[in-house]
Amino acid sequence: MATMEMIGRTAFGVKLNAQKNDKHVFVENSRIILKIYEYRVSHPWFLNRSLFQLSTYKRKHDISQSIIYRFIEDLVQRKKTELKNKINSQGEHNEECMGFKSKSFIEILLENEHQMSFNQIRDEITTIISAGQDTTAFTNACAIFMLAHHQDVQNKVLEELSTIFSSGDPDRQPTYEDLQKMQYLERVIKETLRLYTVTPLFARKVEKETMIEGYLIPEGSTFVICTQLLHLNAKFYPEPEKFNPDNFLPEACRSRHPYSFIPFSGGYRNCIGMKYAMLQIKTVISTLVRSYRFYPSDKCPKPENLRLMFAITQKFVDGCYVKIEART
Ligand code: HEM
Repeated sequence: MATMEMIGRTAFGVKLNAQKNDKHVFVENSRIILKIYEYRVSHPWFLNRSLFQLSTYKRKHDISQSIIYRFIEDLVQRKKTELKNKINSQGEHNEECMGFKSKSFIEILLENEHQMSFNQIRDEITTIISAGQDTTAFTNACAIFMLAHHQDVQNKVLEELSTIFSSGDPDRQPTYEDLQKMQYLERVIKETLRLYTVTPLFARKVEKETMIEGYLIPEGSTFVICTQLLHLNAKFYPEPEKFNPDNFLPEACRSRHPYSFIPFSGGYRNCIGMKYAMLQIKTVISTLVRSYRFYPSDKCPKPENLRLMFAITQKFVDGCYVKIEART
């Protein structure tokens, strides 16, 4: 819910009040759609449109899709009214605009309304929320889980934060400069993304016949890149199962193939939210670690107990539990 709220505020400049409830229509219904898609991929005869059309899954899919569309339509309407009010009050940002000096993503889209159909705008907004909410929520949870299970690493994160916040107001919210200084935390996040790659695979269409290591990849075929397996390859990471943020020390990175770590994909179609994601996760983790200490929970005493499943992105089967204690 927190990452939903953050996307709302940063990309759309609106308060969604997502944290007031433990469910959100967008999050709930996109989960249903992803589960249906995962079902179709694992039961490929349902990828056939005619067969899918006749199934109950299609009806469930369409209901969830129309709920999501309604939510986005309301969001666009709300934003349009707000922007109109803003113009009426001679360009001043009201509270809903969150005091941004720069334009939010949705404002840029709406400015181009004459060049894009409403459905295109709606789909762009849906993509940003889907791609940005669930991915960062999962990664934040896994990072906290790893800190709970590696007290030495948690101590080092706290030490780095204490140094950063030792000058100026120690209770300030992290600034952009503070976030840039969180080098050890960045390594912790990268190591989390290596072990718990939220997008465990993605695919590319092969445009021309290609030979890779003696294997012929025919033109027109679909090539699946399994990031999670790549990140656990002992050829690149000597103890692949071990949580070791030092895997991301500059000298360790230099000695590896640049594409041996691709949680955000690579090439032309890589993640456009990569920098945002890193800043958001650093903000969340640093804020939490400054106030709380995390321990393993009896509900999930060892990292091996954390059960994951594939539903396009990775999801927790039974949730992700830790114990939380306020720092004094
Ligand atoms: C931990 C966080 C994230 C991870 C691991 C991640 C990972 C990825 C990956 C692997 C892809 C490429 C998929 C493919 O090649 O088929 C992708 C694409 C994309 N991501 Fe992210 N992402 C994250 C966060 C975000 C955020 C916060 C946003 C937006 C605010 C975002 C927006 C997008 C978009 C729009 C695309 C599609 C780009 C295109 O097709 O050209 N992502 N992401």
